[in-house]
Amino acid sequence: MGVEVSVEGLTKSFGVQKIWQDVTLTLPSGEVSALLGPSGTGKSVFLKSLIGLLRPEHGKIFIDGTDILQCSSRELYEIRKLFGVLFQDGALFGSMNLYDNVAFPLREHTKKSESDIRKIVMEKLELTGLIGAEDKLPGEISGGMRKRAGLARALVLDPEIILVDEPDSGLDPVRTTYISQTLIDINAEIDATILIVSHNINLARTVPDNIGMLFRRQLVMFGPREVLLTSDEPVVKQFLNGTMIGPIGMSEEKDEAQMAHEQALVDAGHHAGGVDDVEGIVPQMKATPGTPVRQAVGRRQERVRQIMHTLPHSAQVAIQESLDSTDPGNRQVPAYAGGPDHEGTGYQQQPGQQQGYNQQGYNQQGYDQQGYDQQGYDQQGYDNTGYDDTGYSDQGHGPSQGRGQ
Ligand SMILES: Nc1ncnc2c1ncn2[C@@H]1O[C@H](COP(=O)(O)OP(=O)(O)O)[C@@H](O)[C@H]1O
Ligand SMILES: [Mg+2]
Repeated sequence: MGVEVSVEGLTKSFGVQKIWQDVTLTLPSGEVSALLGPSGTGKSVFLKSLIGLLRPEHGKIFIDGTDILQCSSRELYEIRKLFGVLFQDGALFGSMNLYDNVAFPLREHTKKSESDIRKIVMEKLELTGLIGAEDKLPGEISGGMRKRAGLARALVLDPEIILVDEPDSGLDPVRTTYISQTLIDINAEIDATILIVSHNINLARTVPDNIGMLFRRQLVMFGPREVLLTSDEPVVKQFLNGTMIGPIGMSEEKDEAQMAHEQALVDAGHHAGGVDDVEGIVPQMKATPGTPVRQAVGRRQERVRQIMHTLPHSAQVAIQESLDSTDPGNRQVPAYAGGPDHEGTGYQQQPGQQQGYNQQGYNQQGYDQQGYDQQGYDQQGYDNTGYDDTGYSDQGHGPSQGRGQ
């Protein structure tokens, strides 16, 4: 099974520009996770940090238990072999045909014979639907085929961890679905840990087991799809619905006046865009019939059951419905029994379970620690002052002033 990737208190800047700070999350092994966020929030920077191509200045990145920010370059070299990466543009060699592009990592990193290499390359080309295109140059094929070739190449070393940067960019919705299906099937076949970086709402809602959301230099939330898809967190909700109404604006900062103006337009009948008529837990894509049962689903659902009682009542109802309709075994789970009062404080954890909570990868703690919690957010509105106070300011380039109030 794929290995766990665990990130703790990760902070990355370029010069005075802080990209994100204090990011803590765990990609559960063998599950598909997606990191979402508006353009420019540092999703690609995060992905590159995970393989050691970029070096965050604070925090830890545990890959299969080894902190790659502390280990030797020799260890890092070995750890990198666990990864298969599909970069945003496919990153194929323009002068090599698809066969040679896909064979490249095998020729570079293994001592396999050409006949063994041929077997592997053809297998991956088949998996990505590229049989017959082996002799084509990258410049002779469509963007979708280039993506798939990049994916085939990312898979030849049988990676434990697969990182995919915007599999949908430059692709039409149908081809995006095909590539999503391929990723789900790969997860079913080899149980690899997969991270997809994207801002595609459809993909976010239907593909990953876990969803994370980057916004204004913070990881707003990370957790199982059931939790994020039922979340009332304004940033998460707005993003997953793709509407103009909410804290995310055309530019990074969106002030109260603009929010009020937009709300007034919508109140007067203007369409705010997006798809808010399909809220809730939409069914997740399944592995193609004939592939093995995707084990990640059961593992994720188990985690969700464990944290159910910490969620707001309406979320629990929707999640229970979703669990009942997707768990073929339809196991008995305790019905909702009141539970703690969630108003204002977000998702409180029962005392003594803090650690288990974090290990389950449902993280909202960093967010709360920044003073950006549900309550403050609702009461203060989305004014820039609030953000400045908590180190969200574009002017405040220094290291996170106002934190740790
Ligand atoms: N190597 C780099 N040097 C300096 N700035 C960079 C570098 N890579 C990315 N950035 C900056 O980091 C920010 C986040 O970029 P990126 O991760 O590509 O965003 P996303 O993938 O979310 O659209 C951008 O402002 C970008 O200009
Ligand atoms: Mg990017």
